[in-house]
Amino acid sequence: MAKARIAVIGAGLMGHGIAQVFALAGHHVTIYDSVKASLDSAASRILTNLKDLGDDQSAVERVRPCPDLAEAVGDADYVVEAVLEDLALKRKLFQEIEQAVRPDVILASNTSVIPITQIMAGLEHRERALGTHWWNPPYLVPLVEVIGTDWTSQAAIEWTIRLHAAAGKTPVHVKKDVPGFVGNRLQHALWRECIALVQNGICDAETVDTVIKASFGRRLAVLGPLENADLVGTDLTLAIHKTVLPDLDRTPGALPYLEALVADGKLGMKSGEGFRKWTAGEQAALRSRVLQHLKQARDSGA
Ligand SMILES: NC(=O)c1ccc[n+]([C@@H]2O[C@H](COP(=O)([O-])OP(=O)(O)OC[C@H]3O[C@@H](n4cnc5c(N)ncnc54)[C@H](O)[C@@H]3O)[C@@H](O)[C@H]2O)c1
Repeated sequence: MAKARIAVIGAGLMGHGIAQVFALAGHHVTIYDSVKASLDSAASRILTNLKDLGDDQSAVERVRPCPDLAEAVGDADYVVEAVLEDLALKRKLFQEIEQAVRPDVILASNTSVIPITQIMAGLEHRERALGTHWWNPPYLVPLVEVIGTDWTSQAAIEWTIRLHAAAGKTPVHVKKDVPGFVGNRLQHALWRECIALVQNGICDAETVDTVIKASFGRRLAVLGPLENADLVGTDLTLAIHKTVLPDLDRTPGALPYLEALVADGKLGMKSGEGFRKWTAGEQAALRSRVLQHLKQARDSGA
């Protein structure tokens, strides 16, 4: 794929990692953030990641931090936004961006769950607007969900899929703009049942995680649920569903157990306790374990 000029809006956890992936793929990237400290540290964070991963450190030279939004997007062929998860902020930014770019420049949001339709509704050229949902950390987790709205052109979807595939990602096309797209719907359907099991006294939080990590979690990276259903047979899957599904939690909102944790200030690692208690050492060990696992998966080409 020809090299493009890419603008990344937001230099936080996701934005700097997305910029890194595109720069490593040979594209020229400008990055903008309204917070000076975030913008000023973007290049050094990218360089540290490149060093840690053993990737080509000269890629950072293709990333240009830019303190002016119009200038950052002015020459771009493609713009991806990764600012805070705030609908009003995203809508306002895209309207500003649209004033500064060519009408054919594709505009993408990296929102986690907000429908793209809501973010892009105020644009004049909505056919070039779409969602690209990356996963953290962007340089280690392969998936990017490419989400079209009812307005998005097929050409914009196809070009965006090619751009991400050529940068080494695994893009998939999400055909309807539903909250949470595909990945977060699946993830949070599982989390709801996990919380319900604890709420209903069936097991504790540690046991929930052990059950998953020591059983189907082991297979998930190489065996998707629907492949698994075909493997065991759709007839067996149907029989299991007839017994189990009527008993699963289907609360339409957040579960009271989770509401109570938040109300009690048990916010997870940042407050030292959530579903479980976490010392600083345990937190560091878990973060390092996840990173090592993802690096190994990437290096082994999994
Ligand atoms: N963290 C994740 O695991 C993850 C995964 C997928 C998608 N996302 C989504 O990506 C987006 C960014 O998340 P993050 O985790 O990188 O957040 P973050 O807080 O690390 O970064 C957000 C950045 O936006 C900047 N910002 C705030 N207002 C701005 C403005 N007006 N103009 C420009 N920059 C502004 C902040 O200074 C900050 O650097 C969110 O929509 C989030 O839902 C996050």
